[in-house]
Amino acid sequence: MGYKVVVVGATGNVGREMLNILDERQFPVDEIAVLASRKSMGTEVSFGDKTLKTKDLATFDFTGWDMALFAVGSEATKEYAPKSAAAGCVVIDNSSLYRYDPEIPLIVPEVNPDAITMYSNKNIIANPNCSTAQMVVALKPLHDRAKIKRVVVSTYQSVSGSGKDAIDELWDQTKGMYVPGQEKPARVYPKQIAFNVIPQIDVFLDSGDTKEEWKMVVETKKIIDPSIKVTATCVRVPVFVGHSESINIETEEFLDEDEARDILREAPGILVVDKREPGGYVTPVECVGDYATFISRIRQDVTVENGLNLWCVSDNLRKGAALNAVQIAELLGRRVLKKG
Ligand SMILES: NC(=O)c1ccc[n+]([C@@H]2O[C@H](COP(=O)([O-])OP(=O)(O)OC[C@H]3O[C@@H](n4cnc5c(N)ncnc54)[C@H](OP(=O)(O)O)[C@@H]3O)[C@@H](O)[C@H]2O)c1
Repeated sequence: MGYKVVVVGATGNVGREMLNILDERQFPVDEIAVLASRKSMGTEVSFGDKTLKTKDLATFDFTGWDMALFAVGSEATKEYAPKSAAAGCVVIDNSSLYRYDPEIPLIVPEVNPDAITMYSNKNIIANPNCSTAQMVVALKPLHDRAKIKRVVVSTYQSVSGSGKDAIDELWDQTKGMYVPGQEKPARVYPKQIAFNVIPQIDVFLDSGDTKEEWKMVVETKKIIDPSIKVTATCVRVPVFVGHSESINIETEEFLDEDEARDILREAPGILVVDKREPGGYVTPVECVGDYATFISRIRQDVTVENGLNLWCVSDNLRKGAALNAVQIAELLGRRVLKKG
């Protein structure tokens, strides 16, 4: 016996990827419903070799369903996730709405699987921000060995992290550069994204940080350890899929770069590609469609007592969203619901 699963936001980037991953990982699905907004009613989406017709989220009854994987914005989540949770259908949510609620677990299964026990507080589990998810996978095994004190991270985030309209904007603006009369102004982003980089992701806070930067700080503390200090600079780059991060780590105990490489090689969810030669590292185009968080450029930072630098790349639609959500569903199944 398997699960009755609802995918909410099934026409979006993350929703489609969740359907692919449920199928790829042979998640035990007995029945599946795919939901989006009313305007997408009847739109077809693929689930393995099946084609499913999208239903309207606004009129869907969650009673009798086991779990709902939500990938709609915070507003629609706020309206519909509580309905699912109240009907006994456990919500696994990709939006940022519930991540900072102390009663709701924020889970990366390789890092803090035991937090799953908190799911029953509200029948809701939160999935972290894409840039946090890949970073904590890399940080956790190093923290366990040498206790991380401080992290300085700069991100290079792809446009797919802002939804399907942003992908179109990069594509259309890039084409528009070469076709006179077809220039496309910035709409999704505050400045031109084609052939440019934008040091702003999400809104500005009073501190001068952006909300994306704040999310990386708060989520890392919630998932790994409240004592870790994080400072982040988040940058949007003209890449379609795959987030990259330059991570500088200071630890309490000395950690040699070779030992760090060995620890990361053994850690769950990580693939180390670290040859000190041209091309001996991973770039975003190579990680598309992969499950792993790739680590390259592992080296000592000799400007501080116990410092390390590394380069971390992952498919933001997978580990940063859809894969992590499906891994949470697997964890929920294995530890709690125990069907399948
Ligand atoms: N992309 C990433 O890397 C990433 C990573 C982590 C978290 N997330 C989060 O995941 C969520 C989805 O992101 P995405 O990139 O997949 O966005 P997207 O490609 O723009 O897709 C949005 C989806 O939400 C649906 N939707 C929007 N408003 C709705 C409403 N009122 N009622 C029903 N359905 C509604 C859309 O349906 P229609 O097609 O009918 O409009 C579509 O299926 C967001 O909360 C985002 O912050 C994304």
